[in-house]
Amino acid sequence: MEAREVQGLLDSKLARLEELCRRVLDSRRLIVASNRGPIEFVRRADGSLQPRRGSGGLVTALLSAARFVPITWVAAAMDENDREAAQANDGVIELADMNMRLRLVVVPERTYRRYYYVFANPLLWFVQHYMWNAPWSPIIGRAVHQAWDSGYVPVNRAFARAIAEEASRQGGSPFVIVHDYHLYLVPAEVKALLPEATVLHFTHIPWPAPRYWGLLPRHMRQSIHASLCAADIVGMQTRYDARNFLYACENILPDAIVDHQHFTITYEGHTTYVAHYPVSVDVQGLSELAESAEVERYRRRLAPFLADCTVVRVDRAEPSKNIVRSLRAWEEFLWRYPDFQRRAVLLQFLVPSRTELDVYRNYVDEVFQLTDEINDRFGDEEWQPVRIFYEHNYPQAIAALSLYDVLFVSPIIDGMNLVAKEGPLVNRRNGVLVLSEMAGAHEQLKEAAISICPTDMEGMVQALYQACTMPHEERRRRAEALRRLVQEEDILHWLEAQLRDLWAVAQGQRP
Ligand code: G6P
Repeated sequence: MEAREVQGLLDSKLARLEELCRRVLDSRRLIVASNRGPIEFVRRADGSLQPRRGSGGLVTALLSAARFVPITWVAAAMDENDREAAQANDGVIELADMNMRLRLVVVPERTYRRYYYVFANPLLWFVQHYMWNAPWSPIIGRAVHQAWDSGYVPVNRAFARAIAEEASRQGGSPFVIVHDYHLYLVPAEVKALLPEATVLHFTHIPWPAPRYWGLLPRHMRQSIHASLCAADIVGMQTRYDARNFLYACENILPDAIVDHQHFTITYEGHTTYVAHYPVSVDVQGLSELAESAEVERYRRRLAPFLADCTVVRVDRAEPSKNIVRSLRAWEEFLWRYPDFQRRAVLLQFLVPSRTELDVYRNYVDEVFQLTDEINDRFGDEEWQPVRIFYEHNYPQAIAALSLYDVLFVSPIIDGMNLVAKEGPLVNRRNGVLVLSEMAGAHEQLKEAAISICPTDMEGMVQALYQACTMPHEERRRRAEALRRLVQEEDILHWLEAQLRDLWAVAQGQRP
Protein backbone atom coordinates (compact mmCIF):
# COMPACT_ATOMS: atom_id res chain seq x y z
CA MET A 1 0.00 0.00 0.00
CA GLU A 2 1.22 3.49 -0.83
CA ALA A 3 1.79 5.84 2.11
CA ARG A 4 -1.18 7.96 1.00
CA GLU A 5 -3.44 4.93 0.88
CA VAL A 6 -2.34 3.87 4.38
CA GLN A 7 -3.06 7.34 5.70
CA GLY A 8 -6.46 7.34 4.01
CA LEU A 9 -7.33 3.99 5.58
CA LEU A 10 -6.28 5.25 9.00
CA ASP A 11 -8.20 8.52 8.68
CA SER A 12 -11.36 6.71 7.73
CA LYS A 13 -10.97 4.32 10.67
CA LEU A 14 -10.46 7.21 13.08
CA ALA A 15 -13.46 9.01 11.66
CA ARG A 16 -15.60 5.88 12.11
CA LEU A 17 -14.33 5.40 15.65
CA GLU A 18 -15.05 9.02 16.50
CA GLU A 19 -18.58 8.76 15.16
CA LEU A 20 -19.11 5.47 17.00
CA CYS A 21 -17.72 6.78 20.29
CA ARG A 22 -19.82 9.90 20.17
CA ARG A 23 -22.99 7.99 19.31
CA VAL A 24 -22.48 5.00 21.55
CA LEU A 25 -20.68 6.47 24.50
CA ASP A 26 -22.44 9.78 24.64
CA SER A 27 -24.64 8.81 27.55
CA ARG A 28 -22.65 5.83 28.77
CA ARG A 29 -19.32 5.61 30.37
CA LEU A 30 -16.75 3.13 29.08
CA ILE A 31 -15.11 1.33 31.98
CA VAL A 32 -12.14 -0.90 31.22
CA ALA A 33 -10.66 -3.34 33.71
CA SER A 34 -7.36 -5.17 33.48
CA ASN A 35 -4.77 -6.39 35.92
CA ARG A 36 -1.99 -4.24 34.46
CA GLY A 37 -3.03 -0.65 34.03
CA PRO A 38 -2.12 1.98 31.45
CA ILE A 39 0.65 3.48 33.57
CA GLU A 40 3.22 2.37 36.09
CA PHE A 41 4.89 4.44 38.76
CA VAL A 42 8.63 4.82 38.76
CA ARG A 43 10.61 6.43 41.53
CA ARG A 44 12.59 9.57 40.77
CA ALA A 45 15.99 10.29 42.28
CA ASP A 46 14.31 12.62 44.82
CA GLY A 47 12.14 9.71 46.01
CA SER A 48 8.89 10.94 44.48
CA LEU A 49 6.78 8.79 42.17
CA GLN A 50 6.35 9.55 38.53
CA PRO A 51 3.69 7.99 36.32
CA ARG A 52 5.00 6.41 33.12
CA ARG A 53 2.81 5.24 30.27
CA GLY A 54 2.84 1.50 29.55
CA SER A 55 3.58 0.46 26.03
CA GLY A 56 1.10 -2.32 25.20
CA GLY A 57 -1.33 -2.21 22.30
CA LEU A 58 -4.28 -2.15 24.67
CA VAL A 59 -3.19 1.20 26.11
CA THR A 60 -2.72 2.62 22.63
CA ALA A 61 -6.10 1.42 21.40
CA LEU A 62 -7.91 2.90 24.34
CA LEU A 63 -5.99 6.14 24.05
CA SER A 64 -7.34 6.41 20.52
CA ALA A 65 -10.87 6.10 21.88
CA ALA A 66 -10.08 8.47 24.76
CA ARG A 67 -9.42 11.16 22.19
CA PHE A 68 -13.18 11.25 21.70
CA VAL A 69 -14.70 10.17 25.02
CA PRO A 70 -13.44 9.94 28.58
CA ILE A 71 -12.57 6.46 29.81
CA THR A 72 -12.34 4.99 33.28
CA TRP A 73 -9.69 2.30 33.70
CA VAL A 74 -9.73 0.00 36.71
CA ALA A 75 -6.40 -1.74 37.31
CA ALA A 76 -4.52 -3.46 40.11
CA ALA A 77 -1.94 -1.77 42.26
CA MET A 78 0.74 -4.29 41.32
CA ASP A 79 3.66 -3.24 43.49
CA GLU A 80 4.74 -0.98 46.33
CA ASN A 81 5.00 2.08 44.08
CA ASP A 82 1.44 1.61 42.79
CA ARG A 83 0.18 1.08 46.32
CA GLU A 84 1.85 4.23 47.54
CA ALA A 85 0.52 6.26 44.62
CA ALA A 86 -2.96 4.88 45.24
CA GLN A 87 -2.84 5.73 48.92
CA ALA A 88 -1.73 9.27 48.24
CA ASN A 89 -4.60 9.79 45.80
CA ASP A 90 -7.49 7.88 47.39
CA GLY A 91 -7.11 5.19 44.77
CA VAL A 92 -7.93 7.49 41.86
CA ILE A 93 -5.48 9.10 39.50
CA GLU A 94 -6.80 11.52 36.94
CA LEU A 95 -4.73 11.23 33.78
CA ALA A 96 -5.97 14.44 32.27
CA ASP A 97 -3.58 14.36 29.31
CA MET A 98 -4.97 10.95 28.36
CA ASN A 99 -8.62 11.83 29.07
CA MET A 100 -8.62 8.89 31.45
CA ARG A 101 -9.49 8.27 35.05
CA LEU A 102 -7.45 5.47 36.61
CA ARG A 103 -8.91 3.67 39.58
CA LEU A 104 -6.38 1.46 41.33
CA VAL A 105 -7.60 -1.62 43.15
CA VAL A 106 -5.51 -2.06 46.26
CA VAL A 107 -5.52 -5.35 48.14
CA PRO A 108 -3.09 -6.56 50.81
CA GLU A 109 0.19 -7.66 49.27
CA ARG A 110 -0.28 -11.26 50.40
CA THR A 111 -3.66 -11.46 48.71
CA TYR A 112 -2.24 -10.00 45.53
CA ARG A 113 0.65 -12.46 45.49
CA ARG A 114 -1.69 -15.42 45.85
CA TYR A 115 -3.83 -14.13 43.03
CA TYR A 116 -0.99 -13.23 40.61
CA TYR A 117 1.96 -15.45 41.50
CA VAL A 118 0.16 -18.60 42.64
CA PHE A 119 -3.10 -18.70 40.75
CA ALA A 120 -3.25 -16.56 37.61
CA ASN A 121 0.25 -16.92 36.23
CA PRO A 122 1.48 -20.33 37.16
CA LEU A 123 -1.86 -22.10 37.12
CA LEU A 124 -4.30 -20.49 34.70
CA TRP A 125 -1.60 -19.40 32.28
CA PHE A 126 -0.21 -22.95 32.24
CA VAL A 127 -3.60 -24.56 31.76
CA GLN A 128 -4.48 -22.26 28.89
CA HIS A 129 -1.14 -22.74 27.14
CA TYR A 130 -1.16 -26.53 27.56
CA MET A 131 2.05 -26.19 29.51
CA TRP A 132 1.61 -28.92 32.09
CA ASN A 133 3.67 -32.01 31.93
CA ALA A 134 0.58 -33.73 33.22
CA PRO A 135 1.98 -36.96 34.70
CA TRP A 136 3.95 -34.77 37.13
CA SER A 137 2.35 -31.40 37.36
CA PRO A 138 0.39 -29.50 38.45
CA ILE A 139 -0.13 -30.65 41.98
CA ILE A 140 -3.04 -28.61 43.17
CA GLY A 141 -2.41 -28.71 46.88
CA ARG A 142 -3.54 -26.61 49.77
CA ALA A 143 -1.53 -23.56 48.70
CA VAL A 144 -3.37 -23.40 45.37
CA HIS A 145 -6.78 -23.84 46.98
CA GLN A 146 -5.85 -21.07 49.36
CA ALA A 147 -4.69 -18.93 46.44
CA TRP A 148 -8.11 -19.34 44.89
CA ASP A 149 -10.08 -18.66 48.10
CA SER A 150 -7.89 -15.93 49.51
CA GLY A 151 -6.33 -14.53 46.35
CA TYR A 152 -8.13 -14.94 43.05
CA VAL A 153 -11.69 -14.71 44.40
CA PRO A 154 -11.19 -11.64 46.65
CA VAL A 155 -9.15 -9.74 44.07
CA ASN A 156 -11.84 -10.35 41.44
CA ARG A 157 -14.48 -9.19 43.93
CA ALA A 158 -12.47 -6.08 44.71
CA PHE A 159 -12.32 -5.29 41.00
CA ALA A 160 -16.07 -5.74 40.64
CA ARG A 161 -16.74 -3.45 43.60
CA ALA A 162 -14.44 -0.80 42.18
CA ILE A 163 -16.19 -1.02 38.80
CA ALA A 164 -19.61 -0.73 40.44
CA GLU A 165 -18.48 2.27 42.48
CA GLU A 166 -17.11 3.98 39.41
CA ALA A 167 -20.32 3.27 37.52
CA SER A 168 -22.57 4.63 40.24
CA ARG A 169 -20.41 7.71 40.61
CA GLN A 170 -20.95 8.48 36.97
CA GLY A 171 -24.58 7.36 36.57
CA GLY A 172 -26.12 5.71 33.53
CA SER A 173 -25.55 2.14 32.41
CA PRO A 174 -21.93 1.71 31.48
CA PHE A 175 -20.17 -0.48 28.99
CA VAL A 176 -17.66 -2.58 30.88
CA ILE A 177 -14.81 -4.31 29.07
CA VAL A 178 -12.89 -6.74 31.27
CA HIS A 179 -9.56 -8.13 30.16
CA ASP A 180 -7.97 -11.50 30.45
CA TYR A 181 -7.39 -14.47 32.68
CA HIS A 182 -6.71 -12.49 35.82
CA LEU A 183 -10.33 -11.35 35.95
CA TYR A 184 -12.60 -14.24 34.93
CA LEU A 185 -14.84 -13.85 37.97
CA VAL A 186 -15.51 -10.16 37.40
CA PRO A 187 -18.44 -10.45 34.92
CA ALA A 188 -20.70 -12.37 37.33
CA GLU A 189 -19.81 -10.10 40.25
CA VAL A 190 -20.38 -6.95 38.21
CA LYS A 191 -23.71 -8.17 36.88
CA ALA A 192 -24.83 -8.94 40.44
CA LEU A 193 -23.94 -5.43 41.58
CA LEU A 194 -24.87 -3.63 38.39
CA PRO A 195 -27.44 -5.54 36.32
CA GLU A 196 -27.86 -2.62 33.89
CA ALA A 197 -24.21 -2.73 32.76
CA THR A 198 -23.36 -4.26 29.39
CA VAL A 199 -20.29 -6.43 29.94
CA LEU A 200 -17.75 -7.81 27.49
CA HIS A 201 -14.95 -10.05 28.70
CA PHE A 202 -12.01 -10.39 26.34
CA THR A 203 -9.46 -13.18 26.76
CA HIS A 204 -6.04 -12.49 25.27
CA ILE A 205 -4.77 -16.05 25.63
CA PRO A 206 -5.87 -19.37 24.09
CA TRP A 207 -8.97 -21.21 25.25
CA PRO A 208 -8.02 -24.87 25.60
CA ALA A 209 -10.14 -27.86 24.70
CA PRO A 210 -12.77 -28.72 27.31
CA ARG A 211 -11.17 -31.88 28.65
CA TYR A 212 -7.96 -30.04 29.44
CA TRP A 213 -9.95 -27.79 31.77
CA GLY A 214 -10.54 -30.99 33.70
CA LEU A 215 -7.06 -30.53 35.19
CA LEU A 216 -8.53 -27.70 37.25
CA PRO A 217 -10.75 -28.63 40.24
CA ARG A 218 -14.42 -28.59 39.36
CA HIS A 219 -15.52 -25.64 41.49
CA MET A 220 -12.80 -23.49 39.94
CA ARG A 221 -13.52 -24.38 36.32
CA GLN A 222 -17.26 -24.09 36.92
CA SER A 223 -16.99 -20.68 38.56
CA ILE A 224 -14.81 -19.41 35.73
CA HIS A 225 -17.14 -20.59 32.97
CA ALA A 226 -20.30 -19.59 34.83
CA SER A 227 -18.97 -16.11 35.45
CA LEU A 228 -18.07 -15.63 31.81
CA CYS A 229 -21.57 -16.74 30.90
CA ALA A 230 -22.87 -13.81 32.95
CA ALA A 231 -21.14 -11.44 30.51
CA ASP A 232 -23.13 -10.22 27.51
CA ILE A 233 -20.26 -10.88 25.14
CA VAL A 234 -17.29 -13.18 25.53
CA GLY A 235 -14.50 -12.17 23.19
CA MET A 236 -11.69 -14.46 22.11
CA GLN A 237 -8.73 -13.97 19.80
CA THR A 238 -9.69 -16.55 17.18
CA ARG A 239 -12.70 -18.49 15.97
CA TYR A 240 -10.95 -21.61 17.22
CA ASP A 241 -10.83 -20.26 20.78
CA ALA A 242 -14.45 -19.15 20.53
CA ARG A 243 -15.44 -22.71 19.51
CA ASN A 244 -13.45 -24.19 22.36
CA PHE A 245 -15.25 -21.89 24.76
CA LEU A 246 -18.63 -23.12 23.52
CA TYR A 247 -17.55 -26.74 23.92
CA ALA A 248 -16.04 -26.05 27.33
CA CYS A 249 -19.29 -24.49 28.57
CA GLU A 250 -21.27 -27.43 27.26
CA ASN A 251 -18.95 -29.79 29.06
CA ILE A 252 -18.48 -27.89 32.32
CA LEU A 253 -21.88 -26.26 32.86
CA PRO A 254 -24.47 -29.02 32.52
CA ASP A 255 -27.39 -26.57 32.32
CA ALA A 256 -25.91 -24.37 29.63
CA ILE A 257 -27.71 -24.34 26.29
CA VAL A 258 -25.10 -23.93 23.61
CA ASP A 259 -25.94 -22.86 20.08
CA HIS A 260 -22.92 -23.75 17.98
CA GLN A 261 -24.34 -22.24 14.85
CA HIS A 262 -24.98 -18.80 16.27
CA PHE A 263 -22.19 -18.84 18.85
CA THR A 264 -24.43 -18.21 21.84
CA ILE A 265 -24.74 -19.74 25.28
CA THR A 266 -27.83 -19.44 27.41
CA TYR A 267 -27.14 -20.07 31.05
CA GLU A 268 -29.37 -19.27 34.01
CA GLY A 269 -31.74 -17.39 31.73
CA HIS A 270 -29.07 -15.11 30.28
CA THR A 271 -27.72 -15.28 26.75
CA THR A 272 -24.05 -14.61 26.03
CA TYR A 273 -22.67 -13.97 22.57
CA VAL A 274 -19.30 -15.52 21.87
CA ALA A 275 -17.23 -13.67 19.29
CA HIS A 276 -13.67 -13.36 18.16
CA TYR A 277 -11.78 -10.09 17.84
CA PRO A 278 -8.16 -10.66 16.82
CA VAL A 279 -6.09 -8.11 18.67
CA SER A 280 -3.63 -6.13 16.60
CA VAL A 281 -1.13 -3.29 16.57
CA ASP A 282 -1.32 0.48 16.47
CA VAL A 283 -0.30 1.00 12.85
CA GLN A 284 0.29 4.73 13.04
CA GLY A 285 2.09 4.76 16.40
CA LEU A 286 4.30 1.86 15.47
CA SER A 287 5.16 3.20 12.03
CA GLU A 288 6.13 6.53 13.60
CA LEU A 289 8.24 4.83 16.23
CA ALA A 290 10.02 2.76 13.57
CA GLU A 291 10.98 5.98 11.78
CA SER A 292 12.06 7.83 14.94
CA ALA A 293 15.59 9.00 15.64
CA GLU A 294 15.79 6.70 18.66
CA VAL A 295 15.03 3.57 16.62
CA GLU A 296 17.43 4.78 13.93
CA ARG A 297 20.18 4.93 16.58
CA TYR A 298 19.46 1.32 17.51
CA ARG A 299 19.50 0.32 13.86
CA ARG A 300 23.00 1.71 13.61
CA ARG A 301 24.03 -0.11 16.77
CA LEU A 302 22.67 -3.39 15.45
CA ALA A 303 24.25 -3.02 12.00
CA PRO A 304 27.51 -4.83 12.93
CA PHE A 305 25.52 -7.92 13.95
CA LEU A 306 23.68 -8.34 10.67
CA ALA A 307 24.52 -11.12 8.21
CA ASP A 308 23.51 -12.27 4.73
CA CYS A 309 20.56 -13.90 6.40
CA THR A 310 19.56 -12.21 9.65
CA VAL A 311 16.99 -14.17 11.60
CA VAL A 312 15.26 -12.25 14.39
CA ARG A 313 13.16 -13.41 17.30
CA VAL A 314 11.47 -11.17 19.85
CA ASP A 315 9.96 -12.99 22.79
CA ARG A 316 8.94 -12.38 26.35
CA ALA A 317 11.19 -14.80 28.27
CA GLU A 318 8.39 -17.31 28.49
CA PRO A 319 8.35 -21.11 28.14
CA SER A 320 5.29 -21.07 25.86
CA LYS A 321 7.32 -19.12 23.29
CA ASN A 322 9.27 -22.28 22.48
CA ILE A 323 12.65 -20.57 22.59
CA VAL A 324 14.71 -23.61 23.59
CA ARG A 325 13.35 -25.90 20.90
CA SER A 326 13.71 -23.16 18.32
CA LEU A 327 17.37 -22.69 19.25
CA ARG A 328 17.83 -26.40 18.74
CA ALA A 329 16.27 -26.04 15.30
CA TRP A 330 18.71 -23.22 14.56
CA GLU A 331 21.62 -25.38 15.65
CA GLU A 332 20.41 -28.20 13.42
CA PHE A 333 19.96 -25.79 10.50
CA LEU A 334 23.58 -24.61 10.80
CA TRP A 335 24.83 -28.16 10.95
CA ARG A 336 22.70 -29.34 8.03
CA TYR A 337 23.44 -26.33 5.81
CA PRO A 338 27.05 -25.44 6.55
CA ASP A 339 26.99 -22.84 3.76
CA PHE A 340 25.08 -20.67 6.15
CA GLN A 341 27.74 -20.86 8.83
CA ARG A 342 29.30 -17.40 9.09
CA ARG A 343 26.60 -16.11 6.72
CA ALA A 344 23.55 -16.36 8.95
CA VAL A 345 22.85 -15.14 12.44
CA LEU A 346 20.03 -15.46 14.94
CA LEU A 347 19.38 -12.33 16.99
CA GLN A 348 17.26 -13.30 19.96
CA PHE A 349 15.60 -10.39 21.78
CA LEU A 350 14.40 -11.62 25.12
CA VAL A 351 12.22 -9.53 27.41
CA PRO A 352 12.54 -10.42 31.13
CA SER A 353 9.18 -11.54 32.50
CA ARG A 354 7.69 -12.97 35.72
CA THR A 355 11.20 -13.45 37.07
CA GLU A 356 9.84 -14.20 40.54
CA LEU A 357 8.69 -17.59 39.27
CA ASP A 358 11.27 -20.42 39.28
CA VAL A 359 10.01 -21.89 36.02
CA TYR A 360 10.68 -18.63 34.23
CA ARG A 361 14.13 -18.11 35.76
CA ASN A 362 15.17 -21.68 34.97
CA TYR A 363 13.93 -21.31 31.44
CA VAL A 364 16.06 -18.22 30.88
CA ASP A 365 19.09 -20.09 32.27
CA GLU A 366 18.46 -22.88 29.80
CA VAL A 367 18.22 -20.43 26.91
CA PHE A 368 21.58 -18.89 27.83
CA GLN A 369 23.22 -22.26 28.34
CA LEU A 370 22.08 -23.58 25.00
CA THR A 371 23.16 -20.38 23.28
CA ASP A 372 26.67 -20.81 24.72
CA GLU A 373 26.73 -24.39 23.48
CA ILE A 374 25.75 -23.37 19.95
CA ASN A 375 28.22 -20.52 19.90
CA ASP A 376 31.00 -22.80 21.17
CA ARG A 377 30.15 -25.39 18.58
CA PHE A 378 29.91 -23.17 15.51
CA GLY A 379 31.22 -19.73 16.40
CA ASP A 380 34.65 -18.21 16.68
CA GLU A 381 36.06 -14.87 17.66
CA GLU A 382 34.59 -13.13 14.65
CA TRP A 383 31.25 -14.79 14.27
CA GLN A 384 28.64 -15.89 16.80
CA PRO A 385 25.64 -17.66 15.31
CA VAL A 386 23.34 -16.59 18.18
CA ARG A 387 23.23 -13.30 20.02
CA ILE A 388 20.93 -12.67 22.93
CA PHE A 389 19.71 -9.24 23.96
CA TYR A 390 18.14 -9.77 27.38
CA GLU A 391 16.46 -6.53 28.35
CA HIS A 392 13.21 -4.66 28.18
CA ASN A 393 13.99 -2.35 25.29
CA TYR A 394 11.09 -1.86 22.94
CA PRO A 395 12.75 0.65 20.56
CA GLN A 396 15.67 -1.74 20.14
CA ALA A 397 13.31 -4.61 19.36
CA ILE A 398 11.50 -2.47 16.79
CA ALA A 399 14.85 -1.59 15.19
CA ALA A 400 15.64 -5.30 14.93
CA LEU A 401 12.23 -6.01 13.45
CA SER A 402 12.87 -3.46 10.75
CA LEU A 403 16.08 -5.31 9.79
CA TYR A 404 15.26 -8.99 9.64
CA ASP A 405 15.46 -11.25 6.60
CA VAL A 406 13.54 -13.85 8.52
CA LEU A 407 11.24 -13.37 11.51
CA PHE A 408 11.04 -16.59 13.46
CA VAL A 409 7.85 -16.78 15.57
CA SER A 410 7.35 -20.29 16.89
CA PRO A 411 5.25 -20.36 20.08
CA ILE A 412 3.95 -23.70 21.32
CA ILE A 413 0.64 -21.92 21.56
CA ASP A 414 -0.13 -18.22 21.78
CA GLY A 415 -3.30 -16.14 22.05
CA MET A 416 -2.26 -13.88 19.16
CA ASN A 417 1.47 -13.02 19.15
CA LEU A 418 1.79 -9.39 18.24
CA VAL A 419 5.43 -9.72 17.15
CA ALA A 420 4.11 -11.55 14.09
CA LYS A 421 2.16 -8.39 13.23
CA GLU A 422 4.66 -5.76 14.36
CA GLY A 423 7.44 -7.30 12.30
CA PRO A 424 5.83 -7.22 8.85
CA LEU A 425 4.61 -3.69 9.48
CA VAL A 426 8.01 -2.14 10.24
CA ASN A 427 10.35 -4.43 8.29
CA ARG A 428 12.36 -2.74 5.54
CA ARG A 429 13.85 -5.77 3.81
CA ASN A 430 10.83 -7.70 2.57
CA GLY A 431 11.64 -10.19 5.29
CA VAL A 432 9.98 -13.58 5.49
CA LEU A 433 7.71 -14.60 8.37
CA VAL A 434 8.12 -18.14 9.70
CA LEU A 435 5.06 -18.58 11.88
CA SER A 436 3.77 -21.26 14.22
CA GLU A 437 0.37 -22.63 13.29
CA MET A 438 -0.40 -22.45 16.99
CA ALA A 439 -0.14 -18.66 17.23
CA GLY A 440 -3.50 -16.90 17.02
CA ALA A 441 -1.98 -14.62 14.37
CA HIS A 442 -1.67 -17.62 12.06
CA GLU A 443 -5.42 -17.56 11.39
CA GLN A 444 -5.02 -14.16 9.68
CA LEU A 445 -1.48 -14.33 8.29
CA LYS A 446 -1.12 -17.91 7.10
CA GLU A 447 -1.47 -17.14 3.37
CA ALA A 448 1.71 -15.09 3.31
CA ALA A 449 3.78 -16.76 6.03
CA ILE A 450 5.72 -20.03 6.09
CA SER A 451 3.81 -22.17 8.55
CA ILE A 452 5.46 -24.46 11.06
CA CYS A 453 4.31 -26.90 13.68
CA PRO A 454 6.09 -25.77 16.86
CA THR A 455 7.24 -29.21 17.99
CA ASP A 456 8.38 -30.30 14.53
CA MET A 457 12.06 -29.47 14.64
CA GLU A 458 12.67 -31.00 11.25
CA GLY A 459 9.88 -28.84 9.82
CA MET A 460 11.43 -25.76 11.44
CA VAL A 461 14.82 -26.52 9.91
CA GLN A 462 13.24 -26.80 6.45
CA ALA A 463 11.20 -23.63 6.98
CA LEU A 464 14.35 -21.71 7.97
CA TYR A 465 16.10 -22.97 4.86
CA GLN A 466 13.16 -22.03 2.64
CA ALA A 467 13.03 -18.58 4.23
CA CYS A 468 16.78 -17.94 3.97
CA THR A 469 16.84 -18.94 0.29
CA MET A 470 13.55 -17.45 -0.88
CA PRO A 471 13.81 -15.59 -4.21
CA HIS A 472 13.54 -11.85 -3.99
CA GLU A 473 10.25 -11.52 -5.88
CA GLU A 474 8.47 -14.02 -3.68
CA ARG A 475 9.77 -12.30 -0.57
CA ARG A 476 8.42 -8.99 -1.81
CA ARG A 477 5.01 -10.42 -2.67
CA ARG A 478 4.61 -12.13 0.68
CA ALA A 479 5.90 -9.16 2.69
CA GLU A 480 3.49 -6.81 0.96
CA ALA A 481 0.58 -9.14 1.59
CA LEU A 482 1.47 -9.38 5.28
CA ARG A 483 1.80 -5.63 5.64
CA ARG A 484 -1.57 -5.07 4.05
CA LEU A 485 -3.27 -7.61 6.31
CA VAL A 486 -1.88 -5.88 9.39
CA GLN A 487 -2.74 -2.40 8.12
CA GLU A 488 -6.33 -3.39 7.43
CA GLU A 489 -7.11 -5.20 10.65
CA ASP A 490 -5.32 -2.99 13.13
CA ILE A 491 -6.04 -2.17 16.75
CA LEU A 492 -8.68 0.42 15.85
CA HIS A 493 -10.52 -2.24 13.90
CA TRP A 494 -10.36 -4.47 17.00
CA LEU A 495 -11.78 -1.82 19.32
CA GLU A 496 -14.42 -0.67 16.86
CA ALA A 497 -15.78 -4.21 16.43
CA GLN A 498 -16.19 -4.59 20.19
CA LEU A 499 -17.89 -1.23 20.68
CA ARG A 500 -20.29 -1.98 17.82
CA ASP A 501 -21.20 -5.33 19.32
CA LEU A 502 -21.66 -3.85 22.80
CA TRP A 503 -23.94 -1.23 21.31
CA ALA A 504 -25.97 -3.85 19.45
CA VAL A 505 -26.42 -5.94 22.60
CA ALA A 506 -27.38 -2.89 24.65
CA GLN A 507 -30.08 -2.20 22.02
CA GLY A 508 -31.36 -5.74 22.42
CA GLN A 509 -29.99 -6.80 19.04
CA ARG A 510 -27.77 -9.67 18.01
CA PRO A 511 -24.23 -8.37 17.46
C1 G6P B 1 0.14 -11.66 28.13
C2 G6P B 1 -1.21 -11.47 28.77
C3 G6P B 1 -1.37 -10.09 29.33
C4 G6P B 1 -0.20 -9.77 30.21
C5 G6P B 1 1.11 -9.95 29.43
C6 G6P B 1 2.35 -9.63 30.27
O1 G6P B 1 0.21 -10.96 26.94
O2 G6P B 1 -2.26 -11.75 27.88
O3 G6P B 1 -2.54 -10.00 30.08
O4 G6P B 1 -0.33 -8.46 30.70
O5 G6P B 1 1.18 -11.25 28.97
O6 G6P B 1 2.30 -10.31 31.45
P1 G6P B 1 2.41 -9.56 32.83
O7 G6P B 1 2.21 -10.64 33.84
O8 G6P B 1 3.79 -9.00 32.84
O9 G6P B 1 1.36 -8.49 32.88
